[in-house]
Amino acid sequence: MSLFEKIQATANFISDKIKHKPEIGIILGSGLGGLIDCIEKEISIPYSEIPNFPVSTVQGHAGALVFGKMNGRQVVLMAGRFHYYEGYSMQELTFPVRVMKALGVENLVVSNAAGGMNKQFKIGDLMIITDHVNQFPEHPLRGKNDERLGTRFPDMGQPYDHELIAKAKDIAAKLGYPVQQGVYIGLQGPTFETPAEYRWLHIIGGDAVGMSTVPEVIVARHGGMKVFAMSVITDIGISDEPVTITHEEVLEAANHAAPKMAAIVEALVAYM
Ligand code: HPA
Repeated sequence: MSLFEKIQATANFISDKIKHKPEIGIILGSGLGGLIDCIEKEISIPYSEIPNFPVSTVQGHAGALVFGKMNGRQVVLMAGRFHYYEGYSMQELTFPVRVMKALGVENLVVSNAAGGMNKQFKIGDLMIITDHVNQFPEHPLRGKNDERLGTRFPDMGQPYDHELIAKAKDIAAKLGYPVQQGVYIGLQGPTFETPAEYRWLHIIGGDAVGMSTVPEVIVARHGGMKVFAMSVITDIGISDEPVTITHEEVLEAANHAAPKMAAIVEALVAYM
């Protein structure tokens, strides 16, 4: 089966189970599950039951597609995402984004936990992603291009939609939540960065670094979707003192900031 046929088969399987087509897709990052509670749930389909879907392996990721209504809009939410470091190919880990597009999704919201390299940032800050640098060792669009999915050489001049960024800043200000904004650098992990790597990532233009998001955003843009993305800064890599980063600390900081991110995203979907 070609990638296109697999996407169609999976989208058909899902279409038979849902009453309403989703308009907005949401990908939840580590520790950011709180957004699920903002959904009037119609159905939750475990990844393990979805044909052609990879199965999530990492701790803190539930692994289901949740369909329902959020603030009056039909959404599909990925509770648990796939990471390159888990061993999936780029095509496997971005497959759910392709399926979302085939189901009719035109707007994608992506969240993640990220390390901060900007000296103004503190642990627990929210950062609206304005741009990214792709440092993954493999590109999700590498290989023969299927024009039915998107063009061979996609423009990346506005990977993150400017109107949605402006709207999200408005919403955050009205809610009284300070937000940072900046450039996210995506790389493969699973090691956190060395002090020299954090310095290098800052020099090449990064404000935050993480192990996800960039592949999904590239595929979403290839498919012509509008993208909005946000990081929770769960640790600060740039420091004069040695820093130790653990997965537990990352999850704790993400959990702590999750309600604020959820409130912003919940309000934002009304404008998509
Ligand atoms: N580096 C990479 N990924 C991360 C980090 C980090 O510091 N924090 C959370 N995810």
